[in-house]
Amino acid sequence: MNAIVAVDENWGIGRNGQLLARISADLRRFKALTTGHAVILGRKTLQTFPGGRPLPGRENLIMSTTMNAVPEGAKVFRDLDSLLDYAPEDAFVIGGETVYRELLPYCGKAYVTKIHQTFDADAFFPALDDLDGWKVTETEGPFEENGVAFSYVTYEREDGR
Ligand SMILES: NC(=O)c1ccc[n+]([C@@H]2O[C@H](COP(=O)([O-])OP(=O)(O)OC[C@H]3O[C@@H](n4cnc5c(N)ncnc54)[C@H](OP(=O)(O)O)[C@@H]3O)[C@@H](O)[C@H]2O)c1
Repeated sequence: MNAIVAVDENWGIGRNGQLLARISADLRRFKALTTGHAVILGRKTLQTFPGGRPLPGRENLIMSTTMNAVPEGAKVFRDLDSLLDYAPEDAFVIGGETVYRELLPYCGKAYVTKIHQTFDADAFFPALDDLDGWKVTETEGPFEENGVAFSYVTYEREDGR
């Protein structure tokens, strides 16, 4: 599995249930990397999408113990084991904090967009630089959009799994 996330300088990822910044180049890259693959997300992240609808062009694997109606283009999983039984190896974990923390142990690669700013975040991704077993394998940028500087940093497991 892969993780894909946009973080600030403190590995913050969201505030009040929303993203910290909207960088259209990053959203295009997210779409290009994830389209055609399954995406794994929590119920709260689904609610941040336009109309609360699943992302098109991708099978949306939603984790929730409370959702009853299953949206078109989605499957709902009530627990981690049933999600792990179903999720293909090339799936992308797309958030939010709870789901990233639960599934990072199963990810071999993380596509991290680093926004070179600090926000007043209330949701975070595990700081990969401080975790054993992860190394940076690629860095692109910095780039800039509307005064916001950011870089694309790829992390992979040191043991190659
Ligand atoms: N920067 C980024 O790249 C990025 C990406 C995505 C999200 N975010 C941000 O992350 C924040 C949301 O994170 P969050 O942690 O609050 O929410 P979340 O991870 O999106 O969703 C949490 C929900 O997922 C369900 N869930 C999680 N683990 C489960 C399990 N093992 N079994 C069954 N259901 C499970 C539960 O739903 P039920 O309550 O229905 O049981 C839980 O309340 C927002 O600020 C959002 O903008 C940022």
